[in-house]
Amino acid sequence: MQSERTLVLIKPDAVQRGLVGEIVGRLERRGLHPVGIKLMKVTTAMAERHYGEHRDKPFFGGLVEFITSSPVVAMVWEGPGAVALVRTMMGTTNPQSSPPGTIRGDLAVSLAMNVIHGSDSPQSAAREVAIFFSEKELLDWESSGAGWILSDD
Ligand code: RTP
Ligand code: MG
Repeated sequence: MQSERTLVLIKPDAVQRGLVGEIVGRLERRGLHPVGIKLMKVTTAMAERHYGEHRDKPFFGGLVEFITSSPVVAMVWEGPGAVALVRTMMGTTNPQSSPPGTIRGDLAVSLAMNVIHGSDSPQSAAREVAIFFSEKELLDWESSGAGWILSDD
């Protein structure tokens, strides 16, 4: 399976509810590696670019308002099939129909406040990672005899 990178946002509701460790822990335990993590406020311009595919939807204004309302944790996670793997771990968009065991199915009840974003395709991932991170903010993990290590350079 091809190693991929995917953009994950821990949304404002989850940061405020103290769920950062829970969500990071699930991704780590699954075996993915973090290559970039930062706590940040999303600007309106970034949010409009990030959610550009929804520009004409009735919920677009509310979505941008919500994601810019208070800090998020923006992250890039890496691993085999990481894009689809994270989407499976997230569950469905509406937490009401998201099964137990998924992040949204275990931690959320509201469509708007659904705790996590994950890129929906490798193409979206490349586009979204570039909105949130510069190349030099992303580190490289290497497989060695001792397991996985972060490379020095
Ligand atoms: P996300 O992009 O945030 O990871 O969520 P997603 O792929 O599961 O869902 P997407 O279709 O991309 O929608 C983005 C966010 O918009 C809100 N939404 N509201 N009122 C509605 O019908 C509606 N549909 C979507 C959700 O908060 C969703 O996460
Ligand atoms: Mg989406």
